[in-house]
Amino acid sequence: MLINIDTIVHDDNPVIRTHSADVEVPLSEEDENLLKDMLTYVIESQDEKLCEEKRLQPAVGISAIQLGIPKKLVAVVVPGEEEDAEDIHFALANPKIVSRSVKMAYLKGGEGCLSVPETKEGNVYRNYRIKVKAYDAISKKPVTIKAKGYPAIVLQHEIDHLSGHLYYDRIDPQDPLKEDPDAVAI
Ligand code: NI
Repeated sequence: MLINIDTIVHDDNPVIRTHSADVEVPLSEEDENLLKDMLTYVIESQDEKLCEEKRLQPAVGISAIQLGIPKKLVAVVVPGEEEDAEDIHFALANPKIVSRSVKMAYLKGGEGCLSVPETKEGNVYRNYRIKVKAYDAISKKPVTIKAKGYPAIVLQHEIDHLSGHLYYDRIDPQDPLKEDPDAVAI
């Protein structure tokens, strides 16, 4: 499937609020190909030259609903923190958060989303640590992922899309930059 800035569903389209449905695992060929294309999009979007050539917008994750497809499929690529560290790749079906830390975290620069062309300023508080159960399309096995910090935030952002939530739903409209001294700023 062609994924670029022209095919991604924006927040002015009510489809983005759809609840996505579980997919059958092991994945059908159709779902596997879709998830593969989503992962490829995220990988390529982190290359400046490919962005220009293929009309991509940089991303660390994408959910199928952002292509108008209400299926629980999520692709995430978080660049390694250090120069020689490997990127974290996730191609997940039916991801579900099964536990969350009491400790919260947020991104100092705020969040962004391929489906939100006009960035909304504000702190988006999420759990610092999470445990996610999913079917991993790379190893073709059910997995339990423990994530903390930035990768945990990205996973929560993508999993939110599966229930039709956007990051700015979590910004306090009265006080967008409200500080929580107990939360970890990332
Ligand atoms: Ni998003």
